[in-house]
Amino acid sequence: MRMRKKPNLSARMERCEALLVEDPASLRGHWRDLKPDASDLRLELGCGKGRFTAETAAQHPDSLYIALERVPDAMIIAMERCRERNLTNVFFIDADAASLRDYFAPDEVDILYLNFCDPWPTKKHARRRLTHENFLILYRGFLRVGGQLRFKTDNRDLFEWSLCQFPRAGYAVEQVTRDLHAQGIQGVMTDYEEKFHSQGVPINRCVAVRQEMNPEPEFHPIGRPDRARREARFRAMAEAAAQNGQTQDSPDGKDSSPDKP
Ligand SMILES: C[S@@+](CC[C@H](N)C(=O)[O-])C[C@H]1O[C@@H](n2cnc3c(N)ncnc32)[C@H](O)[C@@H]1O
Repeated sequence: MRMRKKPNLSARMERCEALLVEDPASLRGHWRDLKPDASDLRLELGCGKGRFTAETAAQHPDSLYIALERVPDAMIIAMERCRERNLTNVFFIDADAASLRDYFAPDEVDILYLNFCDPWPTKKHARRRLTHENFLILYRGFLRVGGQLRFKTDNRDLFEWSLCQFPRAGYAVEQVTRDLHAQGIQGVMTDYEEKFHSQGVPINRCVAVRQEMNPEPEFHPIGRPDRARREARFRAMAEAAAQNGQTQDSPDGKDSSPDKP
């Protein structure tokens, strides 16, 4: 999603700080501490501006709802929507889906939502699709057996391709529809869904249910974009500090001062 830089992002983030989990790795295995009476834990990947997030969390006040998004300029709108509605069962993570195993422990998640993920239409970028077999195996690291991945997309090619990926990664596919709203609006719409539906584009949906696999498929880590992002931020801070004649500790705790003996 390309977005114009939102003004006052940090001030707006501060106003929503109660909804932001700044160090999601510290909650790995303990997310339910945020809402001990939660009936289940639902995780949305790529929540964007959060129309679906706010409405679904409001409709399920007994659920603990976590929304992940890697573009803060979009996520802040989602956070503000939840804050305006005084929702207390929803929290946000500013991170990339590739890092999810760092943030969630085995069996911690009951329902995973994947709504209108980027289709990455060229073959050379297929591995970036959030329904690629590698990502589906990654999700097995925290979605419980029997847990559901609820997938919606306007993109028919991505949908058909994804239907072939699910069984390869040990998911049974249920509730397949290629025109979800044929008989009238079904369920909560996302921002993208609303736009596509109003243009007459049919919406594809299915539910992929995690099955037991013995042995578990081998997991190949998908790159560490969050780490790369942190390191880029650190490099920028280090450069700024160097210009001011200061030294800086690295995020790894190693001294990066170039002139240390
Ligand atoms: C096409 S938009 C859909 C937004 C929203 N789900 C909706 O349906 O309105 C895809 C969103 O997923 C986010 N996204 C894409 N890849 C991601 C990743 N690897 N990790 C986290 N967010 C991602 C993008 O930043 C963008 O906000």
